[in-house]
Parts: sequence; structure tokens; C-alpha cells
Amino acid sequence: MSEKIIHLLDTRTVANAGAALVPAQPIPATGLLVDTRGRTVRDLRISVTDRCNFRCIYCMPKSVFDKDYPYLARSALLSFEEIERIARLFVAHGVNKLRITGGEPLLRKNVEQLIERLARLPVEITLTTNGVLLPQKARALRDAGLTRVTVSLDAMDDPTFRLMNDVDVPVGQVLDGIEAAHAAGLTPLKINMVVKRGTNDHAIVPMARHFRGSGHIVRFIEFMDVGSSNGWKMDEVLPSADVIARINAEMPLEPIDPNYPGEVAQRWRYSDGSGEIGVISSVTQAFCSSCTRARLSTEGKVYTCLFATEGHDLRSLLRDGRSDEDIGSAIGALWQARGDRYSEIRTAETAAARKIEMSYIGG
Ligand code: GTP
Ligand code: 5AD
Ligand code: SF4
Ligand code: SF4
Repeated sequence: MSEKIIHLLDTRTVANAGAALVPAQPIPATGLLVDTRGRTVRDLRISVTDRCNFRCIYCMPKSVFDKDYPYLARSALLSFEEIERIARLFVAHGVNKLRITGGEPLLRKNVEQLIERLARLPVEITLTTNGVLLPQKARALRDAGLTRVTVSLDAMDDPTFRLMNDVDVPVGQVLDGIEAAHAAGLTPLKINMVVKRGTNDHAIVPMARHFRGSGHIVRFIEFMDVGSSNGWKMDEVLPSADVIARINAEMPLEPIDPNYPGEVAQRWRYSDGSGEIGVISSVTQAFCSSCTRARLSTEGKVYTCLFATEGHDLRSLLRDGRSDEDIGSAIGALWQARGDRYSEIRTAETAAARKIEMSYIGG
């Protein structure tokens, strides 16, 4: 790979500051990659829009994401063709799962056409959504080749859910989306609930109760200090151990093994066989040592950590007419230089640092 391309890559992040810009090993355009901590790249999360029709208080608070917020211009977005090309190059480096995210990915026009292109690759394709557009889109997504979906839902009662989404969407609308996804065969369906102590933690047990026996898997996520606008405070994090204790007191649980090495959620099943739940504990039990995820932003920057401050610009390489070999090598270089482990080294200082918003980088 030429010096010029190496310099087009910006490899600085909070967690890997100081990592060598040019790795000592040769840089392959294809083939398995290992970062400086021995981790391969398996999961590419693709953000297709930085916009959302919700204003969740932990993600896109209204005070920051108002009508003057500088969302990306249309010309800045990667085209579906560009996304497909980058995804293909990541797959050649060992990625076996793609997740389409946002913002709200179903707001991206014709997103099913992107799924159709990606479905030609030998990978699982999943999508994370707030569910509101699923009644209109689920069937088309399934027909395009989407494997399954994860739906975000933060409470079972309207007052709490409205407080969380801050745009007055009632629970019933998301339940309709879940039903549409189920009917279209986008299963097993997962439901993500971000738990903010003092705001929606009373909704944990009702949520577990509601979905128990449905075949859907609820995952309770610790509120994270992602981005710089959600006013994160440690005392608003409810540790996953407490989530498990509260559910277990009413509906006994037992731990089960992960589905695959490095699974983000810790799995638990109801002792009576009525299903499973998961907890995602990135604050109290960091899982960086097995983190195999890369994130592609809407405008074509690759981030090797959810908490990165800077990305690696692949769009300029694409639009400069670089070959697959050059771009594949650039991906090799950025992964080989990766040393991120933000959640393991989180301090009050890093939590307060300027970070990329989750709506931009993708959940
Ligand atoms: P599947 O197992 O394929 O269903 O997906 P997953 O377990 O990767 O779950 P999903 O992509 O739905 O991620 C769930 C949530 O976990 C995200 O919305 C984030 O809140 C959190 N999360 C996922 N990946 C990371 C990560 O790399 N670091 C941190 N800190 N949190 C993550
Ligand atoms: N903490 C934890 N998870 C978050 N998400 C967004 N913001 C946060 C946060 N601050 C995740 C949720 C949601 C997905 C789109 O992003 O899991 O379901
Ligand atoms: Fe939108 Fe999802 Fe962020 Fe909520 S968590 S504001 S639904 S992107
Ligand atoms: Fe991966 Fe999250 Fe750790 Fe960053 S903080 S290395 S994204 S697990």
C-alpha cells in the first residue's frame, strides 16, 4: 500500500491513541486480520443514516438534536454501491455478520435495495430499529434477504416509554412493528431495552413478564457514556447483576452458554423453560477483550471502537478511484493497528471526553 494511502487513514482514537500508523507486518488486502490485542474482525456495523424519528434521552436528546443540528448532507452519504463495496472488502478479511444501524435505518430511502445487494455476500444480515416503520417494511426487508431484526423498546407502559423516546410514540406502535417482523419471519427477534436507573428501571420486570414465552429475547443494556450529549452519570447505571436479581426474584433464571465466542450479551434462561433473556454489561463487565466489531459511519469512516473520537476515512479512497486492493490493504492497516479497549479503561475523565455520537457511528 502506498505511503499516500496510509496517510489518508487517521488511526487515532481515545482508546488506541499512539498506535503505530504503519504496522510493522506486511498489510494484506484480503485474509484474516488480527489487531494488537489478538482480536479478529467478524462483525461490521453499517450506519445508513444519522437521522432518527425518535429522540431517546440516552441517545439523541432533544436539547442537542434540534432543528439546527448539522445532520449529514445527502452528498456526504455513501451510496449503496459504495457500502456494498466496503462490506465485500471486509468480508474478504473475515467478517461474517453485517448489522444495519443508524440513527433509524428504516428512514434511509429504499434501504431494502441495500439489503438485496448485501445479501449476495456469504454473511448473516441483521438490522437494529425502533420498530415504528416495520409494519410497512418488514415483508420487503425479509424478501430482500434480511435474516432477522433487533427492536429497541425501553418500557411496557406509555408514560415511561414516552419519557424515553421523547416524541410521544406509544408502546403499541412498537408492538405492531414487532408483530410485523415476527409475521415476516425475521426471527429470532431480539428486543433491546436500555436501562436508566431512576427513569425506566421499574419497567424491567414488566418487560420480562410481557415477552416471557413469546420466543422473543429481551436484552437489558446498561446505560453507556457513548457520545457527548446524553449527560451520562455513573449513578444512573443499573448494574446487570441487579437486573438479573430483580427478574430472578419473580421468575427464576439460570445462566446459559454464549451462542458464539465474544457474544455481547450474557444469556440467561427461565428455569421453567419459558424462554431466555440477555444482559449487556459494557459498564460493569467490559467485554473489550473479545471485541470483533468494526463500525462504518454513514459518510464512510471506519471506527474501530464505539467510543472512538476519530475514524478512518474510506470514502475519499473510494471517490479517488482506488483499487479494491488499495482499499482492502487500508482496512488491513487500520485493523492491525487497532488497540481499543475503552470500556476496560473508562474513567471519569474519558467519560467526559468528546466522543462520536451513537446515532452517527451506529449502535
Ligand atoms: P446479536 O448477538 O447478533 O443479536 O447482536 P449483538 O449481541 O451484537 O447485539 P446488538 O448488535 O443488538 O447490540 C446490542 C447493544 O449492545 C448495542 O445497541 C450497544 O448498546 C451494545 N453494544 C454492542 N456492541 C458493543 C460494543 O462493541 N461495545 C459496547 N460498549 N457496547 C456494544
Ligand atoms: N447506552 C446504551 N445503549 C445505547 N444505545 C443507544 N444509546 C445508548 C446508550 N447511551 C443502543 C440501544 C438501542 C440501540 C439503537 O443503540 O441498544 O437499542
Ligand atoms: Fe433513534 Fe435508536 Fe437513538 Fe432512539 S436509540 S434516538 S431510536 S437511534
Ligand atoms: Fe469494543 Fe466496545 Fe470495548 Fe470499544 S468499548 S473495544 S467497541 S467492546
